[in-house]
Amino acid sequence: MLDIDRILSDTPGVMGTLFFDSAGSSLPPLPVLDAVIGHLRLEAQVGGYRAAEVAGERLAGVKQSIARLIGAAPEDVALLDSAGRAWNEFFSAVPFERGDRILTCRADYPSNAINALKAHKTLGVSVEVVPSDQHGRIDLGALAAMLDERVRLVSLVEVPTNSGLVNPVREVVELAHAHGALVLHDACQSAGQLPVDVAESGVDAASFTGRKWLRGPRGTGFLYVNPKTTAGLEPRVLGTFTTAWTGPDEYEVAKDATRFEQWEGNIAGFLGLGAAVDYLLDIGVDEASAAVRASARLLREGLAQVPGARVWDLGDDLCGIVTFSLDGADSVSVAGELAKHTVSCHYSRRTSAQHDMAAKGLMDVVRLSPHYFNIASEIDAVLELVADIAKAA
Ligand SMILES: Cc1ncc(COP(=O)(O)O)c(C=O)c1O
Repeated sequence: MLDIDRILSDTPGVMGTLFFDSAGSSLPPLPVLDAVIGHLRLEAQVGGYRAAEVAGERLAGVKQSIARLIGAAPEDVALLDSAGRAWNEFFSAVPFERGDRILTCRADYPSNAINALKAHKTLGVSVEVVPSDQHGRIDLGALAAMLDERVRLVSLVEVPTNSGLVNPVREVVELAHAHGALVLHDACQSAGQLPVDVAESGVDAASFTGRKWLRGPRGTGFLYVNPKTTAGLEPRVLGTFTTAWTGPDEYEVAKDATRFEQWEGNIAGFLGLGAAVDYLLDIGVDEASAAVRASARLLREGLAQVPGARVWDLGDDLCGIVTFSLDGADSVSVAGELAKHTVSCHYSRRTSAQHDMAAKGLMDVVRLSPHYFNIASEIDAVLELVADIAKAA
């Protein structure tokens, strides 16, 4: 059972706004603010190097917390600045050869898709989109039929930026591994609103961001790499000190996930990320996830009653991202109207999810993403506002 009173008093951002943008950049709770600001103050007093030494144990604890959250070992986690960076650090380490195939899904995210297209242009690999099934998820039958020994990588977005869809991860990994392909799991929109367990899924790598459902600071993210299947992969760019310069003409790449890190980083941000993960672990991932899904369900049910509103989330197992459009209104303006009434939400354009938006025939959708700190009266208030905007459209 969530202690909603405590959660609200820990979340100053809920005062005076109806915050429905946790898929964008959520509201950090007080322990995250304290961790970040406290470390910045310490840096101002003693300098960044000394401050990092003082925070050494807590800094090591960040990876331990992340490891607990995702079912990994701490040494298999690299701290980075975003999910996009994490995804690309791994992707660019894969030694693609001309003629290799990359399989992606309709839920693909722009920076993933664009870098795969670049690999097509520069390395001569093919990039193929696996069709979706009748529920909108990656079609496992089609995936099985497309897999062969030339598939080097399956790039799977579990939860897209622009809908409540949840793609199956473990099933994709099982199929891909049977053909010797690696799986790169984009868990950017998953962690914090859904359980993520890399030991259970068996993925080869997974990318995460801090600022969304985890409620961490901006400019933080992390990469998980599977030590069993990716030990030989050398990052495209080796970091200072995370790779040892062992002699004038030689270097030694770290064996663990630190090989994907840079030595320099946002220490205050990482401490904030650790505080965010601890906060979530304290609340309970399953409790948080159930609350998110329940609020999203209420929103979808309410939107279905609004004349002229269409809900666009596909799937029989939807998560916390709720997308809709209003007949006769473009979604950017609808989000703008909502903002005038203190609703923080966002929209997704065609360019945010080319495959999925084209399949739906959409140029844009409004995106509401409730977190476990949103209460029923806020959901009612948003639905009323949407109904008013729909009437005026
Ligand atoms: C599904 C998905 N993947 C990756 C990203 C990129 O995350 P970041 O902005 O942390 O690089 C996003 C951001 O919205 C996303 O929604």
